Amino acid sequence: MAANRQTNSLLYQSSFAASYGKLSAIKPWMGEILTDELLKWRSEFPILDQTVYLISHSLGAMPRDTFARLHDYAETWATRGVRAWAEGWWEMPVTVGNDVARIIGADPGSVVMHQNVSICQSLILSCFNPTPKRNKIVYSELNFPSVMYVYEAHARDGKLRIETVPSDDGITIPLERFLAAIDEETLLVPFSHVLFKSGFLQNAQAITERAHEVGAMVVLDAYQSAGTVPFNVKELNVDLATGGSVKWLCGGPGAGYLYVRPDLQDKLEPKTTGWMAHESPFAFATELRYAPGISRFLHGSPAIPALYAAQSGYRIINEIGVDQIRAKSVRQTTNLIALAEEAGFTVTSPKETSDRGGTVTIGHPDAAAITKELLRREFIVDFRPGAGVRVSPHFYTSDEELELVVRELKEIRDTRAFAVHEAAGAAF
Ligand SMILES: Cc1ncc(COP(=O)(O)O)c(C=O)c1O
Repeated sequence: MAANRQTNSLLYQSSFAASYGKLSAIKPWMGEILTDELLKWRSEFPILDQTVYLISHSLGAMPRDTFARLHDYAETWATRGVRAWAEGWWEMPVTVGNDVARIIGADPGSVVMHQNVSICQSLILSCFNPTPKRNKIVYSELNFPSVMYVYEAHARDGKLRIETVPSDDGITIPLERFLAAIDEETLLVPFSHVLFKSGFLQNAQAITERAHEVGAMVVLDAYQSAGTVPFNVKELNVDLATGGSVKWLCGGPGAGYLYVRPDLQDKLEPKTTGWMAHESPFAFATELRYAPGISRFLHGSPAIPALYAAQSGYRIINEIGVDQIRAKSVRQTTNLIALAEEAGFTVTSPKETSDRGGTVTIGHPDAAAITKELLRREFIVDFRPGAGVRVSPHFYTSDEELELVVRELKEIRDTRAFAVHEAAGAAF
């Protein structure tokens, strides 16, 4: 530990001396016994040589292999041309969905790829016909706003009612209050497994059980949990789940996913649809006949480059396993909370391990400006109003980087180096 501290202080000085420029000197595992097995993955993520990258709740680091995957895509297009569709491209929304399925505990053939969560939510909602007796959507005020916009826009014709469950602290949602809002008139409960703003981990099992008790269905938004918090859609028995690849899955933008519980697949008929959902797309029939199984939840031509790009991240997450990622995340987020509190900061994210995902939020009245200064110094974090600086270690983060970021936070606060950014808003 003492040796570690000494290394850290040397590392700190080297980054400090480099005027917060390139941080390539920070390779704490070099020449040392690798005490954290997962650090071997660092060399697969180029940005870790340049920055202290603590923003996997927003955009996970790009795997080096993604360069090759995107090259494969271009090569295939260049050399196989239109034949590429029959040689794999057409199937990709389902085959790539199978890679995601492994991460979320789904069976092969129960996940399809779409562009993003907002589209998946619209597609899900289009499967239902609200009636005056069952027309209620229940979600919390801390749901991801884009998801709320989808339901709110659909509710404008008066056929849906939305009950928004309030939070007392802007960080958590009391479970009992959430459960009480779900009643016999509830149609759907679209909820975030982990809240984007504070990292609060909701009790997906209790919410699902309550919804099923009253004949409602749940839509689990697993964007902030998949890849950092282990869960299994089959064990949870969720009806539908969605998420994307931008964050903890290190898959980049354009690769959202939609899980539909196998026994529901042939019962639901999405009105948001397209020719890939047709039972015989190449018959070019003038009438829609839904494909059986998960294919009926497809749409029009898929975003093939995004699917190529996303696969490297899934491969790495599947190889490591989310249980191992979570074990490290719990250890590091616990240390981070202790370090931040020791430095006199208020931690706004939940303290209980069982109540939080992979993110720690650090509050300060000048958190927005502090975030700007951290970014200027190549410490990549972001800011959310009401929560503060969001800091997320992932499997590739070293313990030293957490010490560095807290030291930097403290230095910026104590010297008021943030003052130049005082007018700053959200960082991203
Ligand atoms: C919980 C959650 N849901 C959804 C999204 C994004 O939705 P979309 O894929 O439509 O951009 C985010 C992104 O921050 C999120 O944190």
